[in-house]
Order: sequence, then structure tokens, then C-alpha cells
Amino acid sequence: MDLHDNFVIAIDGPAGSGKSTVAKMVAARLGALYLDSGALYRAVTLLVLRHKLAPGRDTDPIVELLKSSTIELNNSDKGTFIFLDGEDVTSEIRSQEVTALVSEVSENLAIREVVTGRLHDLAQFRSVVMDGRDIGTVVFPAADLKIFLTASLAERARRRHLELQQCGTVIEFTALQEEISRRDKYDSERKVAPLKRAEDAILLDTSNLNSIQVSDRIVDIFAKLSMDLTTN
Ligand code: DC
Repeated sequence: MDLHDNFVIAIDGPAGSGKSTVAKMVAARLGALYLDSGALYRAVTLLVLRHKLAPGRDTDPIVELLKSSTIELNNSDKGTFIFLDGEDVTSEIRSQEVTALVSEVSENLAIREVVTGRLHDLAQFRSVVMDGRDIGTVVFPAADLKIFLTASLAERARRRHLELQQCGTVIEFTALQEEISRRDKYDSERKVAPLKRAEDAILLDTSNLNSIQVSDRIVDIFAKLSMDLTTN
């Protein structure tokens, strides 16, 4: 890789580890496209809910539906917007209903294959920073840089609580902590593409770091990597 090639930075980690905030900042600083893979799984979950389908049972209809639907991610100064068949579903995909079902939907291999294909399409011909659970292990196993973010459960719940409060969603802290813990367990223990650190991913514990500090570290690591590759 040299600095003029398209590059891929994969940022994985559990819910609330700061992935999306940090990935967005890193992408902006490096002039790359930010892609939130979780948003795609959430949009698929919304589709499943709207059509009253069951993720464990209705694989074929869900895959058909998915293939005939468009999901677009649109980054602007005002944030990242997600469109499902042209409709802005940015807020709806963060609802409790979607959050409660998204792990089950994303456990389905056939659905994952379609979503992974879409992620590859979205990342074609440009530099991207993508966040998720399996970006460094499955979606882009040859990513130029892989980061795995962690933070304590309490800290992750605190961040999500604040984030939800800012969007006007009131949820009890202990219930939120339990929901995050349940989702982590589900995402880590599933057979297909589980949440796990790729062997060559750099582990960053963000419990005591703010998002600027984390993005500084990632940009520094990337700059050093690019320099090493240019000089070698
Ligand atoms: O990042 P998030 O919390 O918005 O992701 C929602 C869910 O989507 C998460 O609980 C698991 C699933 N997901 C996944 O299985 N693989 C990814 N690459 C990204 C998200």
C-alpha cells in the first residue's frame, strides 16, 4: 500500500466501545468514506419487523426481500443518514424494537452473505473506514489496518445511555447495561462470523480515553504503517 492507493481500515468491537464515533472521525481525517455495517443489519431488521417475518424461520423470504430492497448510507455534515428504499430510517433503526431483534437477524448466514456483498459494493474503488463485529475477520480479512476496540461494560453502557438521552430516548441504566451484555454474549457466541478480535488486530481499550484520543491513536498508527510501507 502507498498513500495514494485505496485503503481499508476495519474497526471492530462490542456495542458501546466507541466504534462509530471514532470510525467517523478517522474517516474524516483521512479523507475516507465511513461505513457503519451495523446500520445495514439494523435496516434489514427493520425490514423483517415491517413484514412480520421471523429471522430464524423465514430465511428465503427475507433474502428475497433484501435483494429487492435498497439500503443507502449517506454521510453529510449533519451526520450519517440511512435510507431504506428511499425512506429515511436513521432514527427508526435505533429503536428498542430493532435493537432487541438485530442480533437474531444478524446471526443468519444467508442474510450475512447478502449484507457482506453490499458492504463490498459500497467499499469499491475508494478508501473506507468500516466498523462492525466481523470486518477484520470476515468482511475484509486483508484490511490494511485492523483495530479492535474494547471498554468496560459499565463505561459502554454509560456512553450508550448518554447517546440515547441526546436523541430523546429514556431508558433505565441497569436495563440498558443488561441489554448490551446480552447482545455482546449473543454476538460473541454465535456460530457465524462471531464478534472476535482478528489475530492481527490492534487492541485498544477505550475505557479511559475520549473519542479524540482514540482517533488520534488510530491515525498515528495508520501514518506509521503507511510510512513503513513506503520506505521498505
Ligand atoms: O454496531 P451496532 O450496535 O449498530 O450493530 C447492531 C447489531 O448488528 C449488532 O448487535 C450485531 C450486528 N452486526 C453484526 O453482526 N456484524 C457487523 N459487522 C455489524 C453489526
